[in-house]
Amino acid sequence: MFVDKLDQCLVMEENDLKSTLTEFSQNRIIPLYIEKGILNYIFQKNGISFMSNGRLDDLLIHLPDEVTDKIIHDVKAMFFSGGKINYKNFYESYLFYYFEANIFKVWKPLLDIQLSNLLKNELIILDIGTGPGSIPVGIIEYYKLLSSRYPDIDFSIVIDIIEAEEDFIKIAEHMVSEVIDPSITNLDIVLRKRVNQVLDYEFDYTILDTYDLITMSNFLTVNERENVAKGSEILKKLSDHLKEDGAIVVIEPGDTENGKLMKDIRNTISDGTNINVFAPCTGVWDQKKTYNCNCYSPTRAYWEIPRLHRFLYNKGLSKAGREQLPFQYIVYRLDGFTKYNIIKNRQHYIQLKDLHKYINMKVNVKANIRSVIERKFSNQWAVLLCDGSCTFEKRNSEIKTVIKDDFLGEIGLTLPIIAGERITLKNVLVKSTNYGFELEVTKESIINIEY
Ligand SMILES: C[S@@+](CC[C@H](N)C(=O)[O-])C[C@H]1O[C@@H](n2cnc3c(N)ncnc32)[C@H](O)[C@@H]1O
Repeated sequence: MFVDKLDQCLVMEENDLKSTLTEFSQNRIIPLYIEKGILNYIFQKNGISFMSNGRLDDLLIHLPDEVTDKIIHDVKAMFFSGGKINYKNFYESYLFYYFEANIFKVWKPLLDIQLSNLLKNELIILDIGTGPGSIPVGIIEYYKLLSSRYPDIDFSIVIDIIEAEEDFIKIAEHMVSEVIDPSITNLDIVLRKRVNQVLDYEFDYTILDTYDLITMSNFLTVNERENVAKGSEILKKLSDHLKEDGAIVVIEPGDTENGKLMKDIRNTISDGTNINVFAPCTGVWDQKKTYNCNCYSPTRAYWEIPRLHRFLYNKGLSKAGREQLPFQYIVYRLDGFTKYNIIKNRQHYIQLKDLHKYINMKVNVKANIRSVIERKFSNQWAVLLCDGSCTFEKRNSEIKTVIKDDFLGEIGLTLPIIAGERITLKNVLVKSTNYGFELEVTKESIINIEY
C-alpha cells in the first residue's frame, strides 16, 4: 500500500486486499487494554482501587454486586421504553455493555472506503453523539492495525466530538487515552474539540472545521426521536462541513424499525441534494439518485464474546451472550462516487425484477449483497440480493441464493462475504419459493465476488 501524492489516499496493491480481508474472516477480539480501561473507569467512579496489572477475572471479583446488579438492570431497561433516554443514570452501564458492542461496527464502512482507495492516511474526523467514544476508539483501532501493517506510512487522526452529556465526554476522553499506544510511532492521535452541546437547529455550526469523515452511531434511533425528526436537516448541514472527498458514516442498530428510520432519512436527503449514497445500497445497472425503498438489510460484525459480556452473561444477562452484532449503515459522499461502478453492458444478464419470467430456467445475475445469514448447522450461507431494480417491502419478495461452504472452497473463495459486496452469479437456477425467489447454485454455476 502507498499514499497517493495527489489526493493523500491509501492505494491498495496486490496483496493488500487479501491481508485486509483476512481481518474480517476472523472474529473480532476486544483487546484486554480496552476491557481494563472500562473497568478502570468504573472502579474509579465507585471509589474502588484499581490494580492495572491485575488479571481481568481478579479485577471483576472486586466489582461490588450492587454495581453488577445495576449494570444488568440498566442494560435490560435502557432502550426498552421506546422513549427518549435519560443517560444520566446509565453512563457506566452504557460503557460496560454497549461501548464494546459498538466499537467494531465502523470497521465495515471504513473497509468499503479503503477498498475503493479513498481512505486517507491523515484524517480529521467529527463524531456526533459520541457517548463513551465508541466510534473514535473503533477508528483508532483500525488505524493501529494499518500503522502496524504499513510501518513506512505515517498516519494521523484528529478527532472532534459533539456530545450532549458532559459525563460521556469525560468517559470518551478516558477511553481514547486508554487505547493510544505511544509505542506506535507512525500513528498520531489527537482528541481536539470536545463540544458539549446538543446538535439541533440552534447549534452553532460555525465552530466546526471541515472533515474527512463525519460519523454518527446510534444517534438517529427510535430512542432519539428528536434527532430522527431533524435527521435529514442535520445531515444536510453537516455536509457543508465535509471535505469534497470526505464521507459521512451513519451506523444504526440492526433491527427493522431503526433500519426503516435510517433509510427514510436517506430517501429524503438523496432526493434534491448533492449528497450521494456511496455504500452499501447502490444500483448495479442504473445510477440510483432517488431512493424510495427501506428494506431490512443488516450487516453483521462477528466477535469473540468479550470477557465483560461473558461476566454479565454468567450473572444472568442473557443478551450478553450474542456471538454476532447486527447493524445497518450508510456511507454518504459529495463527489458522486459509489463503491461500485454502474455496469453498462446488460447483455447475458437479467435484472432481479425480471426473475419471475425465468422460473426453472438458468440465468446470470449481478447484485449487491443485502445481508448474509450464516446457517451454522448446515455449513451454508444464505445471501440476500438486490440490484436496485426491485424492492423488498412486501412479504414473499425476498431474493436469495444459498451457498455451501464446500462450494466456496471448491471455487477458491476463501475470503469472507460480509454484506454490501457485489456478487456475480452465472448459470443459477431460478426457483419460486414461498418467500420469493431462490437462485439455486449447481455444479455448473460460477460465483464471483468483488470487494
Ligand atoms: C445511543 S448513544 C450512542 C453512543 C455512541 N455513538 C455509540 O454508538 O456507542 C447516543 C449518544 O448521543 C448523544 N446525543 C443524542 N442526541 C444528541 C444531540 N442532539 N446532540 C448531541 N449529543 C446527542 C447522547 O447523549 C448519547 O451519548
